[in-house]
Amino acid sequence: MKNLDLPFRPRRLRTTPAMRSLVAQTRLAPENLIQVLFVRDGIELPQEIPSMPGQFQHTLESVLGEVQKAIDSGVACIDLFGVPRDEDKDETGSVAWDPEGILNRAIRVIREKFGDQIVIMADTCLDEFTSHGHCGPLTTDRFGNTVVDNDASVEAYCKMALAQAEAGAHTVSPSGMMDGQVAAIRAALDDAGFEDVSIMAYSAKYASAFFGPFRDAVGSSLDGDRKTYQQDPANRREGLLEAQLDIEEGADFVMVKPAMAYLDLVREVADFSPVPVAAYQVSGEYAMIEAAAANGWVDRQKIVLEALTGIRRAGADLILTYYATEVANWLK
Ligand code: PBG
Repeated sequence: MKNLDLPFRPRRLRTTPAMRSLVAQTRLAPENLIQVLFVRDGIELPQEIPSMPGQFQHTLESVLGEVQKAIDSGVACIDLFGVPRDEDKDETGSVAWDPEGILNRAIRVIREKFGDQIVIMADTCLDEFTSHGHCGPLTTDRFGNTVVDNDASVEAYCKMALAQAEAGAHTVSPSGMMDGQVAAIRAALDDAGFEDVSIMAYSAKYASAFFGPFRDAVGSSLDGDRKTYQQDPANRREGLLEAQLDIEEGADFVMVKPAMAYLDLVREVADFSPVPVAAYQVSGEYAMIEAAAANGWVDRQKIVLEALTGIRRAGADLILTYYATEVANWLK
């Protein structure tokens, strides 16, 4: 039989591992990955998070070991979440800006020990710290509905960001989806002389069921839902507007969250953003991979690498992921 007369045979560039590596258009590097870590007050030993096997709530001691591992692996940034004691939660989440609050203590000990060896980023949101689990203080609107008070939340985020900067955070990361939060935090940091502290804005953050296991991770229970402040998964333009506003307000980084179900937004934001773009592979994405892998239904390492490569291919410069240190070690 006569061979087909084809001008292109794309398979030529897939013939050998060396050829495939030569033409790979997307690469994962440890420096692209941000390790998410939880620090919990009032525990003696690290506690494994039931819905996120392999991830732990850390003590102030054990978190230092995790930061060291991240540095050794080549990961360039950690993102810290604080889990306060139940008795320290209140209506406003005030322990979030208490210098002795768990997150601020963790930032301080990590900065003291590691200095500038790794970028220390802190989550700047109140849901872990409020008794009702919402991302800011509640108020009643003129129709009698309980709602999260936008402007009062922003004021609280400013206090929280200042406490985090004071404790030694290189980057603060407002994740509450309140309008105007980036501009207000930028102004508050600048007024206090923290011009060098950067802001990673959770820009396009969706009201997502993929955050389910995170509630376990931070021991918070939520009254109601977050649909009046986080975005509707149906909306694309709104995500672009949110990212654009955050850039105009002075965000140093923008983020899309979750990652896997929102890769179209990652691509579109990456196409116009003049600042680095991050995507957050969230707790539910982690939990689904772990559950399927534990059952032998998927190849864990291959699927983790494929998921992260897909997020990079969609245009994310940086990925926040629970897998960061582990993957960085695989890549060595
Ligand atoms: C809220 C916050 C959430 C996550 C990060 N920051 C939860 C939420 O908005 O309900 C989720 C992270 C994850 O699921 O991995 N401050």
